[in-house]
Amino acid sequence: MKSSDASYGTFAVTIHWLSAVLIIVLIVSGFRSGFVVDPEVKLSALRVHVPVAILVLLLTVARLVWWWRFDRKPAPLGTAPRWQEVVALWVHRALYLLIFVLLASGIAMSVMSGLPDALFGSAQMPELADLAPRAGHGVAARLIAAAVLLHAGAALYHHVIVKDATLRRMWFSR
Ligand code: HEM
Repeated sequence: MKSSDASYGTFAVTIHWLSAVLIIVLIVSGFRSGFVVDPEVKLSALRVHVPVAILVLLLTVARLVWWWRFDRKPAPLGTAPRWQEVVALWVHRALYLLIFVLLASGIAMSVMSGLPDALFGSAQMPELADLAPRAGHGVAARLIAAAVLLHAGAALYHHVIVKDATLRRMWFSR
């Protein structure tokens, strides 16, 4: 379950890839809702978006507790220049921060608008555009899409060009 000096453990790898897939689902379903006007299409996108966001919340809490109490990250591979290690560290921190901002603003929007009654009851789709947290959610959504591209691009660069173990060690070891 735990990570070694050379590689990430099963728990960390599982949480990482589950969160990655679910965050991509959130980006697609969020923009699907954000870019249409038809309230029925919005509702069907948000019926996916909100429960998946709650799953990401649970996974993020589990991930933070795991690193805080139970496990230690593997040592840096030493194949990247120092500046790239620093950029990677800040991109990872930015991902955590943006996930937190998105969860907090998403929950605030839902509570302020009564959205759950529309999603899982018979109320009409509420107007969200004028809510203060909606603007922050939109900005953070664009920033996380950019951070995910940067993060995935860097992992692929290490795998394909540098040919080191950066991506391989975030997979299940045999
Ligand atoms: C990591 C967590 C999350 C991510 C990555 C995410 C992503 C997104 C994206 C990309 C958009 C489209 C933004 C735009 O069009 O300007 C969006 C909109 C939205 N999200 Fe999230 N979101 C997250 C968490 C949440 C949570 C926790 C909730 C509610 C409990 C929520 C509810 C909404 C709502 C109501 C919209 C507005 C849709 C509209 O205006 O039609 N999101 N989200």
